[in-house]
Amino acid sequence: MNVSVFGLGYVGSVSAASFAADGHTVIGVDVNPDKVASLNEGRSPIVEKGLDELIRDNTANGTLRATTSTSDAVENSELSLICVGTPSRRNGSLDLSYLERVCEQIGEALRGKEAYHVVVVRSTVLPGTTHDVVIPALERTSGKTYGSGFGVAVNPEFLREGTALHDFRNPPITLVGHNYVSDAQPTEALYARVDAPVVNTSVRTAEMIKYASNTWHALKVCFANEVGNLCKRLDIDSHEVMDIFCRDEKLNLSSYYMKPGFAFGGSCLPKDVRAMQYRAKEVDLEMPVIGSILGSNGLQIQHAIDMVTESGKKKVGLLGFSFKAGTDDLRESPIVILAEALLGKGYSLSIYDRNVSLARLVGANRAYINEQIPHLSSLLCDTVDEVLDRSEIIVVGNGSPEFADALRRTRPDQSVIDLFRVKVDRKDVPAEYTGICW
Ligand SMILES: NC(=O)c1ccc[n+]([C@@H]2O[C@H](COP(=O)([O-])OP(=O)(O)OC[C@H]3O[C@@H](n4cnc5c(N)ncnc54)[C@H](O)[C@@H]3O)[C@@H](O)[C@H]2O)c1
Repeated sequence: MNVSVFGLGYVGSVSAASFAADGHTVIGVDVNPDKVASLNEGRSPIVEKGLDELIRDNTANGTLRATTSTSDAVENSELSLICVGTPSRRNGSLDLSYLERVCEQIGEALRGKEAYHVVVVRSTVLPGTTHDVVIPALERTSGKTYGSGFGVAVNPEFLREGTALHDFRNPPITLVGHNYVSDAQPTEALYARVDAPVVNTSVRTAEMIKYASNTWHALKVCFANEVGNLCKRLDIDSHEVMDIFCRDEKLNLSSYYMKPGFAFGGSCLPKDVRAMQYRAKEVDLEMPVIGSILGSNGLQIQHAIDMVTESGKKKVGLLGFSFKAGTDDLRESPIVILAEALLGKGYSLSIYDRNVSLARLVGANRAYINEQIPHLSSLLCDTVDEVLDRSEIIVVGNGSPEFADALRRTRPDQSVIDLFRVKVDRKDVPAEYTGICW
C-alpha cells in the first residue's frame, strides 16, 4: 500500500519504518523540518533500539521518505495514519490542537483528490473525539462527506517505548474501530505481515479500549507497588510474592472478575481487603489504591439504590439474594445491603433466591438468615413468579441461570435493572430493561 504517516514522534517513526519494512511505500510527515531531514538522511528522529538501522535500510531502498508537505503525502498515498501528540493540559483534559490541525491539513489536501482516502487515527483520543473533532475537521476543510468522500478508522497503538519495534511486530491485538467495512479493509491490510489477531469494533469502542488498557496498566503498577511497600514493612520479599501471584492465571491474571456489574461481596473479599488495609495502617503505610477499593465498591451499591429510587416505582422484586449464583452465603452480600437500604426507605420488597430459600429450610446459613436478617427472611418468596407478580421493578442481583427465563416473562409495565447482565436477548424482555453499567 501507499501510506502516509503524520507525526514522526515515537509512534509515527516506529510505524513508518515498520510499515516500510513490511513492503508498503511510506511517506512520513512532520511539521518539524529537523525530523523530516533526519529521516531522509536515514537517521531516526527518536532514540529507539533498532530504529536507526530500519530507517537507514528503508530510506536507502526507497520505500520510506519524509516531507513537510501534507499535499505531497496525501496525493501520493491511499491511507493516512495520524500519529501526532495528544498531550495533557494542566487540568488533565487532552490538548487536541495538533490533532485538529493535522485533520484540517489532510482535509485541505483531500479537497483536490478524487480517489477515496482513509484517515486512520493512531493517536490516543478519548471516546467521541473521532466523531466530534476528527470527522468534522476533515469534512469542513475537504468539502467532502465522511463515508462517501473519505473514510476514517481508529487503530490505537499498544507499543511501549524501549521495546517499540518488537511490540509493533508482536502486538496483543490489531484493533480496528470503524463504521464502514470500506475503511476497515485497508487498515487491516496495513498489518498483513503482523502476526496478531485483528479485532474489529466501532470507532467509540476502539477509543475506549485504549483508555481502559492504559489505565489498567497504570493500576497494575500502583497495585504492585503498594503490595511491595507492605511486603517490605512486613519483611517479605515482594518479588517472590508477585512472581508467585502472577503464576495464577485463573483468577489473578485472567479475564475473571473483569466483567462490569455489581459490587463484590461474600465472606472473603470485603473482609480481606479490610484486614490488609488495617495491617498497613498498623505499620504506618498509606495504600491509596488498595485503600479506595471498599469505597468504590460501596459507591456501586449506592448506584444501584439510586437507580431504583429514581425509577419512581415502589414495589421492588429482587431476583438473587446471595452475592453470587450457586451459593447460600449471605454474609456481606451487596444485595442484602441494597435490600436493607430500600426497606429503610419504605419500599416493599419481594425476594427470590433458590439457594437461600433452601438454606432457610435446611442450610448452613439458616441461623444467619433467621437471626441476622429475620426482617428480610420474611420477604423471601418460594417462586420467581411470585416476585414477578408482585413487583413494579425487578432487580436482577446475580447470574442464576433461571433469571433469563424470568426476564422473558416480565410485563411491559414493569422495569428491570440488571446488575449482572443476564444472557438474554433484550428483544425478548417485555419490561423496560436497563443494566447497571451498560
Ligand atoms: N509514545 C508512546 O509510547 C505511545 C504509545 C501509544 C500511543 N501513543 C499515543 O500516540 C500519539 C503520539 O505520541 P508520540 O509519543 O509519538 O508523540 P510525539 O510528541 O513524540 O510526536 C508527535 C509528532 O507529531 C508532530 N506533529 C504535530 N503536529 C503535526 C502536524 N500538523 N503534521 C505533522 N506532524 C505533526 C510533532 O512535530 C511530533 O514530531 C499520542 O496520542 C500518544 O498518546 C504514544
